[in-house]
Amino acid sequence: YLSMALPAWINVSDATFLPVLSAIEKKYATQRVVQEAVTSALGGREEQYLASMNPSDLLKNNLNTTIGKRQRKEMNPIYVVETNEVDNRTRGLKLFRSICATCHGADGKGIQDLAPPLKGSEYIDGSMKRLAAIILHGVSGPITVNGTLYRLNNEMPALLHNKDISDQDIADIIRFTQNAFAKQGKNISAADVKLMRDKKPAGTGVFTEKQLLETDFDK
Ligand code: HEC
Repeated sequence: YLSMALPAWINVSDATFLPVLSAIEKKYATQRVVQEAVTSALGGREEQYLASMNPSDLLKNNLNTTIGKRQRKEMNPIYVVETNEVDNRTRGLKLFRSICATCHGADGKGIQDLAPPLKGSEYIDGSMKRLAAIILHGVSGPITVNGTLYRLNNEMPALLHNKDISDQDIADIIRFTQNAFAKQGKNISAADVKLMRDKKPAGTGVFTEKQLLETDFDK
């Protein structure tokens, strides 16, 4: 069952994902929440990470704990510490934890310098097709969320080319974000997610704020 929590990005390419995680981990070496998110994102690759990425002490501890528990076939507490007022058996929650929480936080409140909040965001409360397009194509450049301007050095990576992530997976993630973070939860079908695969933004292929605000995704 835990294999569900395997982060989709790691499956695509360790070569690109592990260094991203490593940069995040080093930057927030003393922040427990970030280290737990990184630990959960690594699900199953702890040994590999320990051997190749020279983790800082907090993470090293987390990884050794995880490895030990797995050897003893115990549940990893890192997968169960955070609780949300939703059915935590939903696939959407598991996908959110393994893919989105690393940057946006398990509580959706964002992580300083890493990613803006989802809770209170107009992108969570707005068009569901636009939200699907964000997840598929990514976002880059300055962006205002709930009245705060974020100028981050990171961009949000696209899931479009990830063969392990289906339209239904994205619909499930969106359903979870709606349960957990939206003012009024909405829904989207896998068929509508699929339509957004072709809404590729002009330019770099990653959305800018301007494109997100000016494109009519529901047309
Ligand atoms: C590698 C870090 C990272 C991951 C993983 C990630 N995001 Fe993001 N996300 C960002 C960043 C950074 C931005 C802001 C980009 C910018 O500055 O233009 C962003 C922006 C957003 C936005 C629009 C702004 C806002 O805060 O509402 C939404 C919605 C969003 N992400 C949802 C998600 C969802 C859902 C997932 C999981 C499928 C996810 N993100 C995974 C980094 C990430």
